[in-house]
Formats: sequence, C-alpha cells, structure tokens
Amino acid sequence: MEKKQVIAKSSIQPLPNVLVSCRGKDGKDNALAVGYCTNCSYDPPMVMVGIVPSRHSYQMIKDTKCFVVNLATKDFKKEFNYLGSVSGKDEDKLAKMNIKTANGSKVNAPILVDCPVNIECTVVDSIMTGSHEMFVGKIENIQIDESVNIKNGKLDLSNFELL
Ligand SMILES: Cc1cc2nc3c(=O)[nH]c(=O)nc-3n(C[C@H](O)[C@H](O)[C@H](O)COP(=O)(O)O)c2cc1C
Repeated sequence: MEKKQVIAKSSIQPLPNVLVSCRGKDGKDNALAVGYCTNCSYDPPMVMVGIVPSRHSYQMIKDTKCFVVNLATKDFKKEFNYLGSVSGKDEDKLAKMNIKTANGSKVNAPILVDCPVNIECTVVDSIMTGSHEMFVGKIENIQIDESVNIKNGKLDLSNFELL
C-alpha cells in the first residue's frame, strides 16, 4: 500500500497537557496551558516546556528563569481551558478563576494548589526551535498530594485522570 507523504503542524500529541505557572519580575503570577512538555533527563531530573514568545508567560520565565509544571486532573478542565485561551496580558487569570496558589518551596514561582503534582524548575538552558522556545528546567523540588505514590523513582499517576 502506498503511503501519503505529508508535513503536519503537529505530528505527535504528548500527554498529559500541563499548566505552567510563573511569576514576573513585578511579582505578578500567571499560568498557561502547555502541550509541549516532556521529560528530558533523569540524572539530573529535568523537564522541558515549549513556550511561544508572544505568550505573556514567556517574558516572565525569561526574566525569573524558573517555572512550575502543574499536573491537572479532569475536574480542573474549566480552569485549564480558561488558562489556555485567555492571556495574562488582558486579565489576572488566576484571580479571575479563584485559582488557589502558594509560593514554590525552591523557586520564585507559584504552585497551583489544586493540582496534585507541582514540579518546581529552574531554567538551565533553552533553545529557540521555531515557533517555540524550549526551556529546559532542572527539577528543584516536586510537591505531591498525599494520594500520589512513588514507585521505582517514578510518580505513580495511574489513579489520576490527567488532562
Ligand atoms: C491544550 C492546549 C495546549 C497548549 N499548548 C501550548 C504550548 O505548548 N505552548 C504555548 O506557548 N502555548 C500553548 N497553548 C496556548 C496557551 O496556553 C494560551 O495561548 C494562553 O492563553 C497563553 O497565556 P499567557 O498569554 O497568559 O501566557 C496551549 C493551549 C491549549 C488549550
């Protein structure tokens, strides 16, 4: 059978989608939905997130050089959709949706309290790939709900319906 030869804008769709929270140099907090997120090292543990330069969050991460990857569950879908469609340029999104935040323990960025996993990262490198800048985040700390177990060095999220 003959294969079609194509170029698609997005050929793989990694899951879960996550919420990345950050703090600007003015101390204001923000968060956005991110599909471009993956592990990129286990020693040291690191993750990578891709952010488009036009996002409000982009300059915040450039300035403070840290971010938090929050794993959200299906009951956070309304908040996720809002954070992924409205810009912090136009509104204080976290206040508008009454999203609970707390300071990261190790980084100058907020965690989203109602997400069961909050991965605190400092930016150690980045690469402008094209549409996105991929920020490599060294994991400084992970905050997890009591219901999250760790198995063989991995978070066991099998009981969570992630987005
Ligand atoms: C499912 C989903 C995945 C998304 N993935 C990304 C992404 O990987 N990188 C990105 O920069 N924007 C992504 N977005 C878009 C941003 O979340 C959206 O433009 C957001 O409003 C930007 O917020 P900000 O301007 O306050 O930073 C995604 C949106 C959705 C709904």
